[in-house]
Amino acid sequence: MQHILEAIQSGAAAGDDFANLEIPDHYRAATVHKDEVDMFEGIASRDKDPRKSIHVEDVALPELGPGEALVAVMASAINYNTVWTSIFEPVSTFGFLERYGKLSPLTKRHDLPYHVVGSDLAGVVLRTGPGVTKWKPGTEVVAHCLSVELEEPDGHDDTMLDPQQRIWGFETNFGGLATIALVKANQLMPKPAHLTWEEAASPGLVNCTAYRQLVSKNGGDMKQGDNVLIWGASGGLGGFATQYALNGGATPVCVVSNEEKAAIARSMGAELIINRSEEDYRFWKDEHTQDPKEWKRFGAKIRELTGGEDIDIVFEHPGRETFGASVYVTRKGGTITTCASTSGYMHEYDNRYLWMNLKRIISSHFANYRESWEANRLIAKGKIHPTLSRTYSLDDVGQAALDVHHNAHQGKVGVLCLAPEEGLGVRDEEMRAQHLDAINRFRGV
Ligand SMILES: NC(=O)c1ccc[n+]([C@@H]2O[C@H](COP(=O)([O-])OP(=O)(O)OC[C@H]3O[C@@H](n4cnc5c(N)ncnc54)[C@H](OP(=O)(O)O)[C@@H]3O)[C@@H](O)[C@H]2O)c1
Repeated sequence: MQHILEAIQSGAAAGDDFANLEIPDHYRAATVHKDEVDMFEGIASRDKDPRKSIHVEDVALPELGPGEALVAVMASAINYNTVWTSIFEPVSTFGFLERYGKLSPLTKRHDLPYHVVGSDLAGVVLRTGPGVTKWKPGTEVVAHCLSVELEEPDGHDDTMLDPQQRIWGFETNFGGLATIALVKANQLMPKPAHLTWEEAASPGLVNCTAYRQLVSKNGGDMKQGDNVLIWGASGGLGGFATQYALNGGATPVCVVSNEEKAAIARSMGAELIINRSEEDYRFWKDEHTQDPKEWKRFGAKIRELTGGEDIDIVFEHPGRETFGASVYVTRKGGTITTCASTSGYMHEYDNRYLWMNLKRIISSHFANYRESWEANRLIAKGKIHPTLSRTYSLDDVGQAALDVHHNAHQGKVGVLCLAPEEGLGVRDEEMRAQHLDAINRFRGV
C-alpha cells in the first residue's frame, strides 16, 4: 500500500496516475470472526471486551462490481454499531451477511467467515466499477453508510424505505475500518477541504443520523424556538444534535453525565444543561417498575431551565432507561424521535400521557441519500463541525471500541487507517483557520 499512500500524499498524482496504480490483492482490516461469535457467552455486556473479538489482519480484496468503488481509506471512526458487532449483541452481524449473500451472486461476496467492520471513511477513490461516471480515481471523498439496491418502488421517494436498505460495514462486509473499502459509488460525497482525514471521516454516520432525526421532515422537523431535549449531548449523536438545534434557532436542553461533558456542551453554545449524575435521576425503582415521581422531578428541572416551558422534541436514543421520562416531559402535541435503544429495546411508557396530549413518537434510522448529502454539505461549508476527541491507530481499534462501549469517550473517536499521522489532508487552510476553535472543541477532553 506504500505506493498508494505516496501517490495520495504527493498531492500531485492525477486521476490517470491513480487509475494506473497497482492495487494489492490483500489489505489490512479490522474484522470479527464467525467462529468466535460465542466467545462472550455468559459474560455481562459491559465486560465483553472488543479488544478480544476485533482482529486486525490481512484479508482478500473483494472483486469490484458494477456501480461500486474501491477507496483507499486514510481514516475512519468508531460508531456504536462496531461496538454491537464486536460484542455480538443484540445479534451476531454474520446473520446480516448471510441474508445479504442470498440476494445475488454479487452480494454473495459479503457472506464470509470474517466481517470487515466500520461505517465511516475519508480517503481517495482507487477504482470505480462499470457504470460509475461521477467519481474518478484520485478524487478525495468521504462515504455515507447507506447501502440500498432501489429495485423496488418503496424506496424511490425516501431511500431509507428500500426493502434492501442496509448499513454498510454493519449489515454489509468490506467496511471502513481498513486500508481499502468497497462501497457503492452513490455512497460517495466530497471530502470537506478544510478538514484533516480523521476529522473528515468522523461526522459521517452520526451527523447524517442526527440530521434526519432532528432536522428533516422525515424526523423531528425542528423549527426556530423549539425546545429540544438532547440525551447524551456530548456523545456521538448528541454532539451533532446540539449543533443542529443551535444552528436552527432552537433551544437545546442538553443532558450529560459529568461536568467535563457539560463544559463541552457549553462550549458549543448550549446554555441549558442537566447533569444527570448530579441530579441522580432514578426513572426505574427496580428492573420492572418505573417511578413517575422521578419523571416529574426531571420535568420540573426542565421547566426551571426553560422558564416554565416543556419540550417540543426529544432526541431519544438511550431507550429503555429514559423513554418513559422522555414521553412524559414532551409538551402537548410534541414529538419524541427515537433512533436507538442503547440501554434496552423493550421500552415502557405511560400511554395516557401520549394519547391524551397528542404527542407523537417518530422512528428514525440513519438518513436517506439526500439527507446524507445535505448533512455532509453543512460540514463542508463549516456550518457544522466535527466532534473528534481522540484518534487511535488501526492496530488499536479494539481499544477505541472499548472506550465507546464504556462511555469513556467524548464526541467521536477517530481511527487512522492509511494516514501515517494526524493532521494530514487539509486542502483549504484559509477556511480551516476560520473554524479552528470549533473544529478542536472536543479535542483532548
Ligand atoms: N439508528 C441509527 O441510524 C443510529 C445511528 C447512530 C447511532 N445509533 C445508536 O444510538 C446510540 C447512541 O449512539 P452514539 O454514537 O451517540 O453513542 P455515544 O457516543 O456512546 O453517545 C451516547 C450518549 O448517550 C448517553 N447515554 C448512554 N446511556 C445512557 C442512559 N442509560 N441514560 C441516559 N443517557 C445515556 C451518554 O451520555 P452521558 O453519559 O453524557 O449522559 C452517551 O455518551 C447507540 O445505541 C447507537 O447504536 C443509531
